[in-house]
Amino acid sequence: MNIANFSVNRRECAALFLLRYNEVINGTGMWALVFLPHGRRMDTMVTSYTTADYQKAAAVIREKTAQPVMTGIVLGSGLGGLADMIADAVTIPYSEIPGWARSTVHGHRGELVIGTLEGCPVVVQRGRAHLYEGYHPQQVTFPIRVMHFLGVQTVILTNAAGGLNPTFNGGDVMLINDHINLVGMSGNNPLVGPNDDSLGERFTGMVQTYDRSLRQLAHQVAREAGVTLREGVYVGLSGPTFETPAEIRMLRTLGGDAVGMSTVHEVVVARHMNKRVLAFSGITNVAFDSIDTDAETTHEEVLEVGAQIVPRLTAILRGVLRALAE
Ligand code: HPA
Repeated sequence: MNIANFSVNRRECAALFLLRYNEVINGTGMWALVFLPHGRRMDTMVTSYTTADYQKAAAVIREKTAQPVMTGIVLGSGLGGLADMIADAVTIPYSEIPGWARSTVHGHRGELVIGTLEGCPVVVQRGRAHLYEGYHPQQVTFPIRVMHFLGVQTVILTNAAGGLNPTFNGGDVMLINDHINLVGMSGNNPLVGPNDDSLGERFTGMVQTYDRSLRQLAHQVAREAGVTLREGVYVGLSGPTFETPAEIRMLRTLGGDAVGMSTVHEVVVARHMNKRVLAFSGITNVAFDSIDTDAETTHEEVLEVGAQIVPRLTAILRGVLRALAE
């Protein structure tokens, strides 16, 4: 791991500590230089992994299974059930993979499963790390880099999300056709820092992000499976607070159809490495846009409705994988 690119106004610095900060925050054991200026957050810090870190993680995974993988899948909150259907599964807890951030959230199991699904060789991330757990965007996206070194060409991401589009219902599945990366736009983009040209270009185009032919395939599969598939724009926030009604109205005005706390970072890194990307939101709750309610958004609701979404999402994913395997 390198430490690079610090730009801190020295006069603002009340203290400068070399601190094993990840050990303190989440136990992944990376070194980082942390500036603690008066009243400022730690986001002047930029860390970056090297290909050696990804290769080391990939090598540990390869010690457990030599099975080739073509497609990487990330299963979000309450959506992990799909991993139980994998044939010839080799399961590796995240804690056994060096550099891999552990999810601390209920509903995220924290294991990597390698095997085949509908004849398609897959590596499945059952649970992910989030920014709101205290992780850096590069830690959150570390698994996508490792997937690249395992041979993955296509990345399929899933998440639980709140519905912004007033026509959506809890339990719907939404195909993501575009995103608004509010977290990335405000500086927390995983590509901030030195660019490794061997992985991708300095400036990543995002127009062709959600692969058009994969989206068409998803619609075709959903039709055949009799599953209603919505489509729209996902807004990525940091969380962990759910949104206020005023924020919901704002996000709708911006053009969002669903809102969540993940996915956009992984998508950015996948596109940096020119992977084909397909992504789905399970709409676990319809966002409240008015303060005149006694209701509240809860994680329990997200997990409960997530479980109802699993069979619908599973039908679509199985169909897509079947087609990819052909
Ligand atoms: N907002 C943000 N993230 C979410 C939501 C929500 O309403 N539901 C599930 N994840």
